[in-house]
Amino acid sequence: MTDRYAVFGNPVAHSKSPQIHALFAQQTGQDIQYDALLAPLDGFERSVHEFMAAGGRGANVTVPFKEQAFRVATQLTARARAAGAVNTLMFADDAIVGDNTDGTGLVADIQSNLGVWIAGTRVLLLGAGGAARGVILPLLEEAPSSLVIANRTADKARQLVDHFSDEAAGVMTSVTFEQLANHAFDLVINATSAGLDDAGMPLPDSIFAPGCLAYEMLYGRETPFLRQARRANARVADGLGMLVEQAAEAFFVWRGVHPDTAAVLATMRSK
Ligand code: ATR
Repeated sequence: MTDRYAVFGNPVAHSKSPQIHALFAQQTGQDIQYDALLAPLDGFERSVHEFMAAGGRGANVTVPFKEQAFRVATQLTARARAAGAVNTLMFADDAIVGDNTDGTGLVADIQSNLGVWIAGTRVLLLGAGGAARGVILPLLEEAPSSLVIANRTADKARQLVDHFSDEAAGVMTSVTFEQLANHAFDLVINATSAGLDDAGMPLPDSIFAPGCLAYEMLYGRETPFLRQARRANARVADGLGMLVEQAAEAFFVWRGVHPDTAAVLATMRSK
């Protein structure tokens, strides 16, 4: 019998996950069906339980349900706990396991696809919301020499640093946007949602060290962050690779098989 998976979101019709997982399934010969399911804003938990009762084996979770999925899970992986959010659910007989593959996906894209090794580098993470928190533990695990968090609301950046003080062992600090004038980085990751409104941020060009990779976690749009980074001669990347890699990690969690992401990323880029 074909195993069923789905992505839950609201809205969800735009999701690329069904296409990506169909390509993974085709490539690896796994017999799965993967659908996009719209959960009502006040009915996420009910939708998940209905899907389980109908034989669903696992699910991805996207905006705005990642924090609710964290609460629906009866067991959490360490990376989900650190993220405070769940993007991957696995249904077992007596448990709903909550995982988070976003940060692992980001790191895989930066290192494997873009060829930038994080160990020993100076990393700047812009933003202190859910998207930023979701990637901190996997970034720290790659042992950057520093991980600096900058956020428009400086207090939230300070709180994030405090939250990770056990894992970060002095590597993580927070700065205000104004203080960035005194710093340069090898990797700058934009985890803010500013680009969704086409909003720029008051960032000095000097944050982009020579050879810097500027990574925009959004995809499919030329954001002010990407425009500025390009003007400042940084190498740029958008978040499509992260999207494919987080999906591949979820596929691996469910199926125990890791797809060849380069081929799928090339297909998605050409669409
Ligand atoms: P997400 O889940 O996408 O992280 P979020 O938790 O609402 O969403 O966080 C949004 C992040 O983008 C925050 O860091 C926010 O900064 P504030 O904490 O100061 O609100 C940041 N952000 C959104 N719009 C921004 C803008 N125009 N300029 C700078 N930062 C912005």
